[in-house]
Amino acid sequence: MQHTCLLEAKDIRKSFLYRGALSVVLEKLDFCQSEGQFISIVGPSGCGKSTFLELLCGVSLPDKGNIYFSGKEITGKTGILGYMPQDDLLFPWLNVMQNILLPINVKGGKLESAKHRAEELVPLFGLENHLFHLPAQLSGGLRQRVALLRTYMTDSRLFLLDEPFAKLDAITRLQMQTWLQNLVEKLNLTVILVTHDIEEAILLSDRIDLMSISPGTFIRSFTLPAKDRMGQTEKVELRTEIQQMLIQGNP
Ligand SMILES: Nc1ncnc2c1ncn2[C@@H]1O[C@H](COP(=O)(O)OP(=O)(O)OP(=O)(O)O)[C@@H](O)[C@H]1O
Ligand SMILES: [Mg+2]
Repeated sequence: MQHTCLLEAKDIRKSFLYRGALSVVLEKLDFCQSEGQFISIVGPSGCGKSTFLELLCGVSLPDKGNIYFSGKEITGKTGILGYMPQDDLLFPWLNVMQNILLPINVKGGKLESAKHRAEELVPLFGLENHLFHLPAQLSGGLRQRVALLRTYMTDSRLFLLDEPFAKLDAITRLQMQTWLQNLVEKLNLTVILVTHDIEEAILLSDRIDLMSISPGTFIRSFTLPAKDRMGQTEKVELRTEIQQMLIQGNP
């Protein structure tokens, strides 16, 4: 059976010019994700994970290589993939509902129908009692849910989440991971999650891709068995293997 990519990146190279020096951040990078797949990207700090997501969602351009979605080239095109950057970027002067509707507002979409849809989705995101709160009045976990719902409202078929839970305390993070796992199942989401948390990657992913540093490229890909078929020992072994590869640097 032929394996089809919903999202594909081919032979990507990305460099930055900083104070006259050129540094190559991503090189010879290939990626393929099929519909409904949950992929986590794990790698050392600074290896280019956020840079890769920015290329995928079109906010920056590669020096070389192309990105395809559903077979069509989307290199440099924004508004196709739902992107949630490393910082939640909620607007402090807008309340929860206004923040959720912001992308639709910006795109000039139909506000009334979007509002109805948001109201339907709000319980699923656990925000029903917070619609008129300002971001400063929310806990970290709630802020992340607002940002996730806002991203979901863009109607994308694929979501890029850059370390969504990194700033949360351990218990809230665990709650959010379980919540996201349920959400992904309910809505059948296709997701790329960038994370430093290997347990999180193991809990949520169908596949974990490991990125190397300088220049960043994918060096290993771990396909996980179905969630209910993965035993505790298998999880611990996988976690240890990934941890060791990260500690050793480029294996
Ligand atoms: N706009 C920019 N100009 C110059 N250098 C940049 C720019 N954006 C990123 N970089 C550099 O590219 C490299 C990769 O950055 P990136 O943010 O993609 O790493 P990351 O893997 O997401 O790291 P972290 O895990 O810490 O979030 C870093 O060395 C960073 O300094
Ligand atoms: Mg990053």
